[in-house]
Amino acid sequence: MNILGIESSCDDTSAAVLTAEGIKSNVIASQSIHLKFGGVVPELASRAHQKTITQTVNQALKEAELSLDEVDAVAVTQGPGLLGSLLVGTCFAKGLSLSRNIPLIGINHMDAHIYANFIDHSPEFPLVALTVSGGHTQLVHVQSAFEHEIIGQTRDDAAGEAFDKIGKLLGLPYPAGPHMDRLAKDGDPKFHKFPQALLQEGLDFSFSGLKTSVLYYLQDKEEDWIQEHMNDICASVSFAIAEVLVKKLKRAIKKTGVKTVLLAGGVSANSMLREKSEKMAREMGVQLFSPKISYCTDNAAMIAITGKMKAEAGQFDDLDMVPYASL
Ligand code: KG4
Ligand code: ZN
Repeated sequence: MNILGIESSCDDTSAAVLTAEGIKSNVIASQSIHLKFGGVVPELASRAHQKTITQTVNQALKEAELSLDEVDAVAVTQGPGLLGSLLVGTCFAKGLSLSRNIPLIGINHMDAHIYANFIDHSPEFPLVALTVSGGHTQLVHVQSAFEHEIIGQTRDDAAGEAFDKIGKLLGLPYPAGPHMDRLAKDGDPKFHKFPQALLQEGLDFSFSGLKTSVLYYLQDKEEDWIQEHMNDICASVSFAIAEVLVKKLKRAIKKTGVKTVLLAGGVSANSMLREKSEKMAREMGVQLFSPKISYCTDNAAMIAITGKMKAEAGQFDDLDMVPYASL
């Protein structure tokens, strides 16, 4: 079965082709228009999706050496995300489904982050996924495919949001997560001890206190001093975020007794988080999977693989399927 995946939930327009041989293309058109605003502007995002979606899909088909006639199903992000952005992808996919008479499969973006791990690996259920992105931070107990229970989540900011907001305080461009990751590599994670919230309590997270603490920490510092210690500050912030994520993941493993854990979402590209998780998994004797870097942040390959899994389970949608911002 050849599946065309389409992702347009936020500020990346992406299309991917999955065939029996695996992912054949994964084209991502990132929108640079938001850079000067320091965050995603929803109206501009949907307009940019509209402009690029046709060429992105055409490029994905071209790279996969597949014609539209050979596409057997179209999988598209149904939510969560920005409604205007989601509407562009879902309407495009519905148009294809109707005109080509091929099945339509609506995909939950957060499911897709988890199932990105199934592109190159075959993790065994039951498992726990730590899903960390710009909008979500969740611990998900996955009993079997599409049988999920959220056992922990953030009470305020998401981990990616914390990276982005703190990076903004440091004068880094949006999204700041990858920049902080790069700068942290040459810094001392023990330079300053930033708070790790809710460590003693359950499986929920909180990152807004960390953001405020960095704000206060920087208040009496000169710009030159901040620049001079940028690597150490980024390393210390990354340490605080990664530590709390891994400690909670460890607690979730103990609570559920699973032998498999997954990292998922944009923040799963973070090198300190990956290192700490690998070490913890070795010590706990559990198998850890994380997607390759290009499948961590938003992409349509993860939509296509989830589409394939839903198609195999006979889960298709009608043309009256609508996107939901908070699916
Ligand atoms: O999954 P994603 O691409 O989009 C959402 O669904 O939100 O995640 C984007 C988030 C952003 O907050 C970005 O700063 C963060 O992932 N991110 C990282 C890294 N790469 C992306 N955060 C820390 N380290 C990274 N290497
Ligand atoms: Zn995402």
